[in-house]
Amino acid sequence: MNEKGNGSVTLSIAGTNKSASLPLLHGTMGPPVIDIRELYSSLGVFTFDPGYAATASCESKITYIDGEAGILLYRGYPIEQLAEHSSFLEVAYLLLNGELPNKAEKAEFEGGVMRHTMLHEQIRSFFNGFRRDAHPMAVLCGVVGALSAFYHDTLDINNPEHRRINAFRLIAKMPTIAAWAYKYSIGQPFMYPRNDLGYAENLLYMMNAVPAEPYKVNPVLARAMDRILILHADHEQNASTSTVRLAGSTGANPFACIAAGIASLWGPAHGGANEAVLKMLSEIGHKDRIPEFIARVKDKNSHQRLMGFGHRVYKNYDPRAKIIQRTCYEVLEELGIKDNPLFDLAMELERIALNDDYFISKKLYPNVDFYSGIILKALGIPEHMFTAMFAVARTVGWVSQWKEMIEDPSQRIGRPRQLYTGTPQRDYVPLEQRG
Ligand code: CMC
Repeated sequence: MNEKGNGSVTLSIAGTNKSASLPLLHGTMGPPVIDIRELYSSLGVFTFDPGYAATASCESKITYIDGEAGILLYRGYPIEQLAEHSSFLEVAYLLLNGELPNKAEKAEFEGGVMRHTMLHEQIRSFFNGFRRDAHPMAVLCGVVGALSAFYHDTLDINNPEHRRINAFRLIAKMPTIAAWAYKYSIGQPFMYPRNDLGYAENLLYMMNAVPAEPYKVNPVLARAMDRILILHADHEQNASTSTVRLAGSTGANPFACIAAGIASLWGPAHGGANEAVLKMLSEIGHKDRIPEFIARVKDKNSHQRLMGFGHRVYKNYDPRAKIIQRTCYEVLEELGIKDNPLFDLAMELERIALNDDYFISKKLYPNVDFYSGIILKALGIPEHMFTAMFAVARTVGWVSQWKEMIEDPSQRIGRPRQLYTGTPQRDYVPLEQRG
């Protein structure tokens, strides 16, 4: 972060002689940012920005998004290049450490992650406490939070070695927890991880294999899963990442912080959208019913949104949606599926929406979730597991952002202010005097 030249913004309060000069901060990319840290002490006012649409909550070197141009970079590398040439664990290393690994670093990192895939045997008992029909995200919140209770000796957040080992644990154990949540929901035995497999391959193995027979993961499907994980690995200061940072700013341990992130991801406006897209497509059912559905979306009183469309930051095509759409073709071709009614319906829905004034004028384009549900379904993953898959991928982003925050010397507890519009101070009225 540079404070270039004399860049500053002068703010004065009309009708008073109060004014303040606020520094303008310049990142390496993106618009400049007004530093308002001294605003209250200089002018006695706060800023009001519900939903943080105009507020940079932190300084970060991890992910950059240009929403107008539809650009997403991890540590400076375009998402398209990483999705094409890299692997999820290599991207995980990049997000955590800032640079791509060399051969030795890559082998050591992959070995390190894959050696932590097993869960403490006592964690098995946590699963039995849930109803069989528990949503996997409820199971994930509970079990990930419970990990805090298994690693008392390495919970010092100020110890770099503790931070490193817990990053490995979280990235490595999430697929096992998610796969076991699924196995529990369908009454099948838990499959132990296989460390000789790749990260995505092992995830598909634990989800689909059973102990009674051999199971070989299709490499094209494993590659598609790996790509989905890369695309979801980080997305700068979104709701769940900001939740992780806020929880982490109090000094809470990383397992508790990631559990908080999982809870935040669950909502349909965020990670739950991929599940909601499939529900919406099944509800529409047929191309003939698209116009009727679009009319409902445009009706302000219906509260119906076109799920998988729109984004707080992207006012252009989400670059991840393009890659997912292409990967969808590859998976359907590999599986020999010539006509996939859901995919056809989604393509037609997208075509109609992109030509409709309502969506054009509001700059609403498909986001990552519009096609991710279709591809996950083709990979044999049931709808109720979609958001859990997102959580598996995003864990590395959450951990990287948490680590960056803890290592930032200017880090303080996150504590927003408010515009109070409640009753002014008044005196307590005894019960017998109340009307
Ligand atoms: N369908 C119909 N109208 C929409 C949609 C949509 N999907 N998204 C936004 N709008 C309209 C909205 O009604 C509002 O109209 P008006 O100005 O007339 O009141 C305008 O566009 C701006 O919307 P907003 O709600 O103020 O925008 P936001 O930045 O607060 O919300 C969003 C972003 C992603 C929550 C929203 O676009 C949405 O609900 N999309 C559907 C859910 C979805 O696909 N979520 C996944 C997001 S990407 C993955 C992730 O982050 O997890």
